[in-house]
Amino acid sequence: MSILEVKNLSVSFKQYTAGLKQIQHNVISSLNVNLEAGEILAVVGASGSGKSILAHAILGILPSNASVSGVITFEGEELTQARQQAVRGKQIALVPQSVNFLDPLMRVGSQVRTSVRKGKAVEAQRAVFKRLHLRQEVEHMYPFQLSGGMARRTLLSTAMVSGAKVMIADEPTPGLDPVVMKEALDHFREFANQGCAVMLITHDIDSALQIADKIAVFYAGTIVEIARAEDFIGQGEAIRHPYSKALWRALPQNNFIPIMGSQPHPGALPLGCLFAPRCEMATPECQEDQPEMRNLRDGMVRCIHAT
Ligand SMILES: Nc1ncnc2c1ncn2[C@@H]1O[C@H](COP(=O)(O)OP(=O)(O)OP(=O)(O)O)[C@@H](O)[C@H]1O
Ligand code: SF4
Ligand SMILES: [Mg+2]
Repeated sequence: MSILEVKNLSVSFKQYTAGLKQIQHNVISSLNVNLEAGEILAVVGASGSGKSILAHAILGILPSNASVSGVITFEGEELTQARQQAVRGKQIALVPQSVNFLDPLMRVGSQVRTSVRKGKAVEAQRAVFKRLHLRQEVEHMYPFQLSGGMARRTLLSTAMVSGAKVMIADEPTPGLDPVVMKEALDHFREFANQGCAVMLITHDIDSALQIADKIAVFYAGTIVEIARAEDFIGQGEAIRHPYSKALWRALPQNNFIPIMGSQPHPGALPLGCLFAPRCEMATPECQEDQPEMRNLRDGMVRCIHAT
């Protein structure tokens, strides 16, 4: 059952050029994705492809120069601005990508305790710190006293104690040592096994594949494929979209084959398929319209030629 549905989401930013001309940058276009209870969906893709913007659109924390269209529902009901505010940090928790989300003026133990919904706050905070290998005295520290890895573990702790039904973790693991990283990933799996839903945004495809049920591949502001984690194997024969295949083959253990060219800038998107300028399978029809997302082999793909 879908706990969170994103339908036809588009996000653009108003920007001014040097000549004070106003232009729209489409950073997310026609994006559809569902989060199922009990599942981990890993979101992977190039830097700047819009992954954090998707997370912030769900939570309702986009900056004021953003225009949003489309519908997001949580437990079958539309997530209006008021509802986003009501569920944020409670039913839907975010592990933000930036450690600047910590309150610089509050001791980190207290910050984590304010997110505890059930049980004793101090005990819950100490238990999660122990699990993430943060010494007890860290609870008395302010964010500026923490290393990058400690700050990231504090952000993770806040989401972990929240008792949320949906967790959106935006690059939660950089800077963590392997032991702590394993604890964090195991926690996401346990969380999903209890019937919650996890969106794990990450550059680390290997770690994602260890725990995720499905993989959503992001390119230039939209999802081009939703696959099962098991599809990422061998030479990528089971993967559907040419970009996902290229991403898979670019990994060090898969021959390190680089992807030629670069992702288009949000202000200069091609007219048809967004991947066409880099795609070896492109034909003239690919340049006509952006392909619709369609079902293919128990997954979804946005490519007219994928089989
Ligand atoms: N406030 C803003 N105003 C204008 N453009 C923005 C703003 N915030 C983000 N963008 C643009 O939106 C696009 C998507 O950014 P986003 O941060 O979502 O990428 P990402 O996929 O999370 O990248 P990374 O993997 O590096 O975290 C980028 O081109 C970025 O420049
Ligand atoms: S639609 Fe065409 S250009 Fe786009 S990914 Fe598929 S084959 Fe390549
Ligand atoms: Mg990001």
